[in-house]
Amino acid sequence: MWRDLKAMADKARRRGIAPLFGGGRAAAFSARFDGMLFDYSKTSMDAEARAALIALAEARGVPARREAMFSGTPINETEGRAVLHTALRNLSGGAVTVDGQDVMPGVRDTLARMRAFAGAVRSGAFKGVGGAITDVVNIGIGGSHLGPEMAVRALAPYHDGPRCHFVSNVDGADITGALAGLDPARTLILVASKTFTTTETMTNAAAARAWMAEKVADPGAQFAALSSAMGEAADWGIPAERVFGFEDWVGGRYSIWGPIGLSLMIAIGGEDFTDFLRGGEAMDRHFRDAPPEDNMPMMLALTGLWHHQACGYPTRAVLPYDQRLARLPAYLQQLEMESNGKGVDMDGRALGHGGGPVVWGEPGTNGQHAFYQLIHQGTQTVPCEFLLAARGHEPELAHQHRLLVANCLAQSEALMLGRDLETARARMKAQGFTGAELERQARHRVFSGARPSTTLIYDLLTPRRLGQIIALYEHRVFVEGVILGLNSFDQWGVELGKELARELSAALEPGSAPEGGKDGSTRQLIRYVHTQHE
Ligand code: F6P
Repeated sequence: MWRDLKAMADKARRRGIAPLFGGGRAAAFSARFDGMLFDYSKTSMDAEARAALIALAEARGVPARREAMFSGTPINETEGRAVLHTALRNLSGGAVTVDGQDVMPGVRDTLARMRAFAGAVRSGAFKGVGGAITDVVNIGIGGSHLGPEMAVRALAPYHDGPRCHFVSNVDGADITGALAGLDPARTLILVASKTFTTTETMTNAAAARAWMAEKVADPGAQFAALSSAMGEAADWGIPAERVFGFEDWVGGRYSIWGPIGLSLMIAIGGEDFTDFLRGGEAMDRHFRDAPPEDNMPMMLALTGLWHHQACGYPTRAVLPYDQRLARLPAYLQQLEMESNGKGVDMDGRALGHGGGPVVWGEPGTNGQHAFYQLIHQGTQTVPCEFLLAARGHEPELAHQHRLLVANCLAQSEALMLGRDLETARARMKAQGFTGAELERQARHRVFSGARPSTTLIYDLLTPRRLGQIIALYEHRVFVEGVILGLNSFDQWGVELGKELARELSAALEPGSAPEGGKDGSTRQLIRYVHTQHE
């Protein structure tokens, strides 16, 4: 099947994209859901390729695997766990059982505790020693950081709670910058770590506790823990009433919907957070019920496979024309690359095709003035995934929003249509160029076109929309993972570096010179660091 798809991709490359239009392609190669439109018509996928991709999804068992995920079957086979982040947003659904037990009462109970605590922080009923909480600092990394940081920024127009700050890097510069100017007596620290063992987070949490202890006699009183390791959080000195737990069937990069989302809930309030969950839940229903051609996550995934596995494009760019989604590319880098950046299948055999692609991006229009040169004229094809808010939250600046929208639409049009040599020549001629110089200049102004892009357009970035968008990408990763035959829910690839870092931090202790067993380059770098501390 992959061979057939590659043959179709070769044919598509020769044909281009623009010739596909006519006969209602735009509508036919779009999926709609709840007022959102995902337009994948500006890609080289034709009806034959789409049918083959949908058949591939069926053959690889996507529908059955999807139901297995939603119903709590342990589809994370290398860790023997269910994958149930969807249970965290199952507001109106029924029981979800893991090992014969309905997990929903626990989910609802934790959500109610989060709402009560967030409400108390927001109203001032929960106080620091200096009075009502003015600042909340979320200390976490990876999935315990990227989601809340991205979402708090995305939903800034709804932010009416205390200020939120985020610390992730073990580099002391991060926490120093975040705590600068904060009053420990009115600050709440959220230690966000599923395992409660992650070096970066626990080191930063200890630094925050020391910072707070200078002004607050009982610093633990202004700490809360967001973790599935309830015992470790208690051992660390955070009282049970401020430990918000979740189960191991919620993966770190899928955890924004539960306790890891507490900073978001404190920022925007319980009602808006519930709307965010409702958005995710609505996308879940759509994903389960819509036929493949109209199924947004399915078609986003199949477009991704078409571009990476069939056409062979090595990366994809995520380009939100919505400044508040500035951190979405970083969030998706973890979601997509930690999930599908794998080289073996579920049984440990080498994949016969590529795993997931490199994902990168920046918001538009900023990216246009940075790397779009390569996207338009470089020698690699980069499929672009535009996200576009049709309206902004600043009605008084509607003219600026029109410029934003115009730029986004212009980019996808330019990528697809390009500009041929003849047109470039005519334009240069009109500017007075002649002879060899006309030829030379014209060639620099040619755009090959036939460069693919998709556009996800929505009305306005509300909590509900954001929930839908995140769930859309989660399910896209799932579908791609199932079709590729890999496990999207483990992350063994991060372990080796962690182990070696533990060894190396001992070698970097002042006065130690344990270089045995290290390669020449690493030894040289260790020695360099030591010379800086002599
Ligand atoms: O090292 C990778 C990772 O395990 C991610 O999967 C996870 O999101 C992150 O570290 C943080 O882990 P924790 O929430 O357990 O601190």
